[in-house]
Amino acid sequence: MTGRRVCVADFEDEARKVLPKSVYDYYRSGADGQNTLADNVAAFDRWYVLPRVLRDVSTVDLSVSVLGHTLSMPVCAAATAMQRMAHPAGETATARACRAVGTGMMLSSWATSTIEEVMSAMTASPGDGGVLWLQLYIYKDRALTLSLVHRAEKMGYRAIFVTVDTPYLGKRLADVRNRFKMPPHLSMSNFTSASLAFSEDNYGNDSGLAVYVANAIDPALSWDDITWLKKHTHLPVIVKGVLNGEDAVQAVEHGASGILVSNHGARQLDGVPATLEVLEEVVEAVRGRCDVYMDGGVRRGTDVLKALALGAKAVFVGRPVLWGLACQGEEGVTEVLELLKEELRLALALSGCRSVSEVTRSLVRRVDFTSRM
Ligand code: FNR
Ligand code: LAC
Repeated sequence: MTGRRVCVADFEDEARKVLPKSVYDYYRSGADGQNTLADNVAAFDRWYVLPRVLRDVSTVDLSVSVLGHTLSMPVCAAATAMQRMAHPAGETATARACRAVGTGMMLSSWATSTIEEVMSAMTASPGDGGVLWLQLYIYKDRALTLSLVHRAEKMGYRAIFVTVDTPYLGKRLADVRNRFKMPPHLSMSNFTSASLAFSEDNYGNDSGLAVYVANAIDPALSWDDITWLKKHTHLPVIVKGVLNGEDAVQAVEHGASGILVSNHGARQLDGVPATLEVLEEVVEAVRGRCDVYMDGGVRRGTDVLKALALGAKAVFVGRPVLWGLACQGEEGVTEVLELLKEELRLALALSGCRSVSEVTRSLVRRVDFTSRM
């Protein structure tokens, strides 16, 4: 019998028990020494919240507008690959949960359900109601890349999040040791050939996914490819994986509709700062010219509050959704998202904010560690 799950960490504890080791390792891992993995979470503890009182917080409005759509809260599901390894319903369960909670889902290019299946699961008819965005990896084969974009457009996806931090896959030690590959009954469903669907038999002695990326994904990407992508789609393009102000300005100048401050859940280059550390620099560089989002290490309502105070329009959660899925499929993901929503509601109320728009920079202050010495 499982215990009650009252915070995101409880879901991870339970997920660890139910998932096969190589799957849990793949979902959990960061790159190399995993310093950034720990820091993504720890960074939130380096900020105090400075609450205000006597402000009638009997009702708190968590709604927010993201890329033209009103969501019930500023917490959305980040793209995480291969969700059917966590639960047989995989991405379709996540989509239904996001719809139930009233938030948006970013679908990975490397989903184990197709672009079409996930939209059909989320909505009664294409484009009706559910908010789905496609996360895009740019393949060496540009025609193949555009076919993903056009399938998403046809199905009513609302934006493209193009991932720019993965010219090669980061070195995740557990995946190398496990020679990680997809269980044989699953594949990256958006593709038909075994080589593109990550269902070949032999990836040698390495992480199979690292070999897959080296074979298929284009390491030659440059800002010109953002211009190219924008030319071929009418959907908003959001650049996922920016970690400094100068790249943020480049993204704006190349027509990005948004920037997702992300270090890929600390899975790419170890030693980069926690995303919360660089959020404000990016927000300042962008100067309101497009929305700024963040992901990485968000595990509590107070984490969301701090990211909003530092200028994020909304945040994304990756692993928490996978833990919910592993524990209990659609209901588990719904539970995780509702938990974050209620934690955020309490955090806003206890800090004297009646709506997300009342969360301002003055609500947080950096902990001064030197004064404690
Ligand atoms: C990811 N992430 C990711 N990003 C992306 O652009 N495409 C993808 O297919 C994936 N796949 C993926 C799988 C797994 C198992 C993880 C943990 C992460 C990165 C993801 O979108 C997001 O940036 C991070 O997960 C955010 O950090 P947290 O919330 O997991 O700490
Ligand atoms: C990962 C890829 C799928 O982080 O983005 O594993």
